[in-house]
Order: sequence, then structure tokens, then C-alpha cells
Amino acid sequence: GGKTNAGNAKVKALEPFRVHVQEDDELTTNQGLKIVDNQNSLRAGPRGPTLLEDFILREKITHFDHERIPERVVHARGAAAHGYFQVYESLAPLTRAKFLQDPSKITPVFVRFSTVGGSRGSADTVRDVRGFATKFYTEEGNFDLVGNNMPVFFIQDAIKFPDFVHSVKPEPHNEIPQASSAHDTLWDFVTQQTETTHMIMWLMSDRAIPRSYANMEGFGVHTFRLVNEDGKSRFVKFHWKPKLGVHSLVWDETQKLAGKNSDINRQDLWEQIEAGAFPEWELGLQIVEESDEMKFDFDLLDPTKLIPEELVPVKIVGKMVLNRNPDNYFAETEQVAFCVSNIVPGIDFTNDALMQGRLFSYLDTQLLRLGGPNFHEIPINQPICPFRINNQRDGLHRQAINVGKTNYDINSISKGLPKQSIAKRGYVSYAERIDANKIRERSATFDDHFSQATLFWLSMSPVEQDHIVKAFTFELSKVQEVIRQRMINQLQNVDNVLTQRVAHNLGLLPTEGPQPGFPKKVTPSPALSQMNTKKDS
Ligand code: HEM
Repeated sequence: GGKTNAGNAKVKALEPFRVHVQEDDELTTNQGLKIVDNQNSLRAGPRGPTLLEDFILREKITHFDHERIPERVVHARGAAAHGYFQVYESLAPLTRAKFLQDPSKITPVFVRFSTVGGSRGSADTVRDVRGFATKFYTEEGNFDLVGNNMPVFFIQDAIKFPDFVHSVKPEPHNEIPQASSAHDTLWDFVTQQTETTHMIMWLMSDRAIPRSYANMEGFGVHTFRLVNEDGKSRFVKFHWKPKLGVHSLVWDETQKLAGKNSDINRQDLWEQIEAGAFPEWELGLQIVEESDEMKFDFDLLDPTKLIPEELVPVKIVGKMVLNRNPDNYFAETEQVAFCVSNIVPGIDFTNDALMQGRLFSYLDTQLLRLGGPNFHEIPINQPICPFRINNQRDGLHRQAINVGKTNYDINSISKGLPKQSIAKRGYVSYAERIDANKIRERSATFDDHFSQATLFWLSMSPVEQDHIVKAFTFELSKVQEVIRQRMINQLQNVDNVLTQRVAHNLGLLPTEGPQPGFPKKVTPSPALSQMNTKKDS
């Protein structure tokens, strides 16, 4: 069943926090006082008013009144599971990360899948990006791979993220639509920010309505660095490949399921694990030598671009198995805090301007969502290695009882501690050389907003192309005519057939031509089509 793998070090670490109520346990207040009547409040006579004195009633209601915390500002709806990760062979030539050195090492993980736009109670079946966030509890600290089920993103710079999300989310005056991309504000944004075009193709494809979380790929999206023991750095893209292959619902199914079982993805994950049919993914890496950084016709720092697998094959290096459902949705799935800046030695960031903004955003939002600076002490967020060995103290909800007279560096008073407490082997940032002017300007290597949208379209099977045309037709039929027209004009930069089919369905014609040089001639990439999924269920 779903509660196996007692050897999982994270599951073991959670054990002291679990509250198991036994049959003969007696009801108590939070102060340990036994309660003899949980059905009647304290009143002045059986028909009289309730007394303010009733501290038992007040404690119970007060706790209830405070049971909600802010939901995530994006990715509010999610489902998660515990599991483990293992490499197939040592990756020491590529990275010094200890959890990637030894095939016999089991690294516990906690993975949260999510939709992006809807609120916590919205349907699983909406057309949306899916989050795929993995927390690796390594012996060197937590490493979070906070990815999505699509390999690219809508925008190139984090400074656009609040605007983008405001356009995706329900409109501010009436909070409609609750969880749908078919509305004016998103398409207004998309048609004025052409860098969104590639991701919009993915969003209109079957990838945006997955059959099951176990049928989704995952992507780190950004280019990261791997750094080995000698300090040599290479660029890397992270991939998760589902063992069961990539499968999607069709639009008509999503519409029916939204009414009949809007928890379909969440429930599938739960039931697969309870039944012992543990979902599995393989970790894949695309490695690019530093010297090859500039050899592509796109920029590796541009998160709206993928590296075609024909140019750089995905090397499969390990596997992840999800084999245990959480005990408690709130304690684990809701309170888990993923953060792009949770990193371990041997992995490093790049100057991708979207990633750089994310390095700030997650911790910042979690300070609000999880109520202050001590949310790393919440059981699900605690590393399994020693942590909080530092001089940070106090703050809301602090659990640790720090012992000793001093809490500052450098102190010469406390015995038993080195005078300056520093680690022998820890995180050292890659010493990338930067020599530049401080400016607000984007590199011209980010300018091509359409070629990979064309690549995606041409790589689709006829059935997948039909679905994309239908998705554009449905979505654009819901928006103002002027925006609809702008999108038809924009699609011309991607492909003529795509434009004609969508325009025809909407009874429109392009009113201006494509940008000079577009659509570009590109060679399709079979790896992008779901229909070419090698491993099938
Ligand atoms: C949450 C992925 C871009 C801000 C999430 C989650 C995922 C994710 C998977 C859900 C985490 C969970 O399950 O708890 C991505 C990917 C991005 C991206 C793959 C682009 C490649 C951004 C950017 C920003 C941002 C550019 C801000 C500048 C947030 C915030 C949350 C979030 C504030 C909520 C976190 C929380 O409340 O715990 N993102 N995101 N994301 N993301 Fe992103």
C-alpha cells in the first residue's frame, strides 16, 4: 500500500511530529485539560445565553477561526507525495553534489504537482501549466528543483512576472474566470509581449491537460550549472521523463471531468500510490560545455527557449519513485516551501533574468504565506542533515531552544565552538567573471520570439495540430475581437497553415503581414511530440 518505505530518512524524521490518537485516549484542550462535554457550551440555564467564561468553547472556535493561511499567490492548487531518488552511476565528472555520486544512495524527495492560475479549490482539468516541484533532502541540505511540465516559460525577465500573473489570474473586478486562460486580459498580454508566443503554443497543446501527474514530463526550464570537484562548470538543463509515457486528456473529457470529478489528477496520484503502482520518472540532463555557450541560434539564458534534443541529447542519469502519500494535506502539501535558491554544492545558477528574480521571490512570498522567518522549522521543510547551526534567533513561531550565552560571530566566550564557526566543505558560488555596465537592456540574442514556436508546431502530429487549432479557436472566441485579431496577426510569424486554420474558424483574416524573416524555416524535432513517446503504458 501507500505507507511503505519506512527506511526513507525523511519519513523517519517526520515520525516524532505525527500525532496518533489511540482508541482509549481522552479528549483534551490544547493545555491538556480533559474535556467531559464536547457537545454543549457553558450556558446560564438550558435556554440561557452562553457564558464568556466558557474557555473550552472559546479555544475550540478560536482555533477554527484561524485555520486558514494565505494560499500560494500562484500554484495554489496542488497534490504531493513522498518518495526517493537514486542515480544510475556516479556523476562525479560533472558535479560534486553528494547525492549524485553514489548509485547505492537513496535520497528522500517530496514532490508537489500543481496548477498555476486557479485557487486551492479549482478544478484539476483546466488548460494550464502544471508545476512539478521536487525537494531533495540531501546530506548537504535541501535541493529544490522547482520546475514545470513545460520546458519553456512565458517571459524572459522576472520584472514582467507580476504583470503576467495579473493577466492570467481572474480579472480583478469580478474574479472571473476562476481557472481558465480563455479571457481578455491574458490574451491582451500575450499579443503585446511576443516573447510569450512559444510558451503559448505549449499552452494550447495537449501538454496543458495531462491525463495524470504520472504522465507528465518535468523541466527545470532555466539553464543551470553543474560544477565538479575541480571547479569545472558546465551548463545543464534538467528533465524528468515519466516511465509511463506522456499522455493527455482530450478537451471534451476535461469539460466533463470538471463537473464529474474535478479532483481527477489529485485522486489518480493518491490512488496509484495507495495501490502500490508507484509513479516513476527518470532524471535526464542536457549538458553543454562552457565553450559551447554561444554556438546556438538562441541564448542559453533565455527561458523561452529549449535546447532541441537533436542538438543536445538528454542523458538519463537516475530515477525517482513516489511511494508514499502524505499523512496530512495541510502539514505537508500546503506547508511545504520550495525555493529556487535552495541549492547544494555542485549545482549553481546562471544569469537567466527570470531565474534571478525567482531567487528572490520564493523566500519572500513564503515569509508572508508561512508567517515569518522560521518556516524552515516546519517538519516538512526541515533538512535531514544538521541545519540552523548559526546565530539566527527568535522571530514568530521559533521552535528551537538555542542554548548558550552567545549568538554572534566572532565570539571568544562560548566554549567548544570554533572562534569563527565556518564549514570546511560548503557552498562556494561559481566564480563567473562579470565585466559589464549596469543597464536596463536585453541582449539582442533574446530577440527571436517565433522560431521555436514554429519548431513546436511543425513537430506535432496531425492530431496534435488539430487539438492546437481547436484550443486557439475556443480561447480566442472568448476574447474581444480586437485582441483576437492581434493574435491572428501574431500567429503569422509562427506558421501560415496554423494562422489560416484558426482565422478561418473565427471568421477572420490577417490584417497585416508577419515580421520580416518569419516564419523561419526549421527542421521538426520528433522529441517534442507526445505521439512519439517511447515508453507507453
Ligand atoms: C510557485 C514554478 C517562474 C514566483 C511555483 C511553484 C512552481 C513554480 C512549481 C509551486 C511550488 C509549490 O508546489 O509549492 C515556476 C517555474 C517558473 C516560475 C518553472 C519559470 C521558469 C516564477 C517567477 C516568479 C515566480 C519568474 C517571480 C518572479 C512564484 C511564487 C510562487 C511560485 C511567488 C508561490 C510560492 C509559495 O507560495 O510557496 N513556481 N515558477 N515563479 N512561483 Fe514560480
